[in-house]
Amino acid sequence: MRKIPRRTLRRAKRLLLPGIHQGSSKTGFDRYPEIFSGAAAALPEARRILSFGCSTGEECVTLHKYFPQAEIVGADINPLNVWRARRHASDKVRFVYARDRALSSRGLFDVIFCLTVLRDSRLDDDSSIRESYPFERFDERVRFLHSLLRSAGLLVFYGNMYRFRDSSVAHDYEVIPLKHTPVGENITFARDGSNDGAQYLDVLFRKKAAHTGSSADVATATP
Ligand SMILES: C[S@@+](CC[C@H](N)C(=O)[O-])C[C@H]1O[C@@H](n2cnc3c(N)ncnc32)[C@H](O)[C@@H]1O
Repeated sequence: MRKIPRRTLRRAKRLLLPGIHQGSSKTGFDRYPEIFSGAAAALPEARRILSFGCSTGEECVTLHKYFPQAEIVGADINPLNVWRARRHASDKVRFVYARDRALSSRGLFDVIFCLTVLRDSRLDDDSSIRESYPFERFDERVRFLHSLLRSAGLLVFYGNMYRFRDSSVAHDYEVIPLKHTPVGENITFARDGSNDGAQYLDVLFRKKAAHTGSSADVATATP
């Protein structure tokens, strides 16, 4: 039988899953120990955790080790990944298809991890991604994640294409410095889509207490 070329598979995935950002499912156990331990130190009492873009579930198994008391929900847009992830399910770890309405109806989370999801690594070397991956596409998902996080909750954000500080909800957060920065690349682009080569190492963000007129009041979930 002839092998289907990777490029064809990638194209098919994007056609079948129009809401997909990062098409690659690359993941692993304890992929970012500096990030996981930093998050666990910042909010050890977390009880409800979302791994947005959990791929095949190894990130959730890892999170259970760092937050043994917490209920971990792994969500992914790719049903095949969710199906594969379910072999890691337990009483504390479950996996769902990443539908906005379903996620919004689960109540607010204490911590949300969004690691290498809001990106398209095919574009890493481009000088501008303005047309191929506009900032607004990224920002729409960030606003959605913001709507799922409780006040004083933690957003853990790494490996995404744009900088969280440029997002339209950034003013509702304060940065928590990480003791050790993760090993690896965090290629980010400026809000206008240009590749300015700037280093961006902020990873942990604590949501400030809600106040009237905050962007937390804006409804973001799409059907
Ligand atoms: C490179 S993997 C990252 C897995 C894991 N977070 C990690 O860092 O090891 C990216 C995952 O994000 C998922 N994804 C892409 N766009 C998404 C979206 N809009 N909603 C939910 N998941 C998405 C993909 O299906 C893929 O499984």
